[in-house]
Amino acid sequence: MKSSEVTRAEGYHVPVLCGESVEALVTNPEGIYIDCTFGGGGHSRRILERLSPEGHLFGLDRDPDAAEACEIDDPRFTFVRTNFRHLRHFMDFYGIEQVDGILADLGLSSHHLDDEERGFSFRFEGPLDMRMNSRGGRTAAELIASLEQEELGKLLANYGELKGSYRIATLLKAASEQGRLSTIGELLSAVAPVVPERDKQSLAKLFQALRIAVNDEIGALHQLLSDGCQLLAPGGRFVVITYHSLEDRPVKHFFRTGNVEGHRETDAFGAPITPLKPLQSKPILPSEEEVARNPRARSAKLRIATKL
Ligand SMILES: C[S@@+](CC[C@H](N)C(=O)[O-])C[C@H]1O[C@@H](n2cnc3c(N)ncnc32)[C@H](O)[C@@H]1O
Repeated sequence: MKSSEVTRAEGYHVPVLCGESVEALVTNPEGIYIDCTFGGGGHSRRILERLSPEGHLFGLDRDPDAAEACEIDDPRFTFVRTNFRHLRHFMDFYGIEQVDGILADLGLSSHHLDDEERGFSFRFEGPLDMRMNSRGGRTAAELIASLEQEELGKLLANYGELKGSYRIATLLKAASEQGRLSTIGELLSAVAPVVPERDKQSLAKLFQALRIAVNDEIGALHQLLSDGCQLLAPGGRFVVITYHSLEDRPVKHFFRTGNVEGHRETDAFGAPITPLKPLQSKPILPSEEEVARNPRARSAKLRIATKL
C-alpha cells in the first residue's frame, strides 16, 4: 500500500480495534469474507493482507461517499453499495452460499461526523439530514414532521435514553409545524429550553436517537445478525464492533442464544440450542494507547462468535 493511500483512507476514518477484529475474523486465507461496513476501508485492507490469492472479500456500505472513496483495485475484492440488511440477497446474486467470516463495525464513520453537509454533528451548521444513504429515505427533518408527538417522544426515550424526551418532542413538533426545523441551528434553538447548547452530553444523545431512527440502525442490525448467522459456514466467525448499549445488547444476546432478546432455548435433554458460540464472555475493549491515539475508539466493544 502506498503511504498516500494510508493518509486518504485514514482521513476518511481511522479503523477501530483493527488488528484484534481481523485476526479473529480470518481463519482461512482462502476463504470468503464480508466486511459489512466498509467506510474508509481500513478493516477491508487489513483483511486483504491476510487473504491468499484464492480468498475473496465483499465490502458493503450503504453510503455513496464510501463507494466513491473506495480505491481498492484488487481481483480478490468486490464493493457492494447496499444496506447490510440485504446481505442475503446480494450473496445470492453473487452465487455465494456460505462464507467464512462476517465483520460489522457499526455506526458512523468519522467522514459522516466531519462532513457539515450530512447533518450528523451539532458542531456545525448544516441541513437536518442524518441519512447514511444520502440518496434515499427520509431526512431527520422529514422524520420529525412525519411522526406523531407521542411516537417521537418514545423514539427519543428509547434510542437516546434522554431525560425530558417527551418535552423535547413537543418542542420539535412545534418548530416543525411552524416550518422552523430544517437545519441543525434550528433544531438547537428549538430544544434549547430543555437541552441548552452547553449540555453536550444530552445533545449527543438527542443526535444519536435521531440518526438511529432515520437509518433504522437497530432494525438493520437485527436482520444482519439473523441472516449473517445463516450464511456462516460451520467454524466461521461473526465479528461485531459496537459503540453503545443499544447495539451491544442485541449482539451479546444473539451470540449467546441465537436471538436478540436473549431467550435461552433448550432441547429435550436441557442442552442449550444455539447456532453460535461466543469466544469470550466479556467484550474486547480498545487499549488505552488506541483510545489516546483515536478518541473515537473510546466506547468500542468487540464481540466474536463462531458458528457451531
Ligand atoms: C464505523 S464505520 C466503518 C469504518 C470501517 N470499518 C473502516 O475501517 O473505515 C461504519 C460504516 O458503516 C456504514 N453503515 C452503517 N450502517 C450500515 C448498514 N446498515 N448497511 C451498510 N453500511 C452501513 C456507514 O455508512 C459507515 O461508512
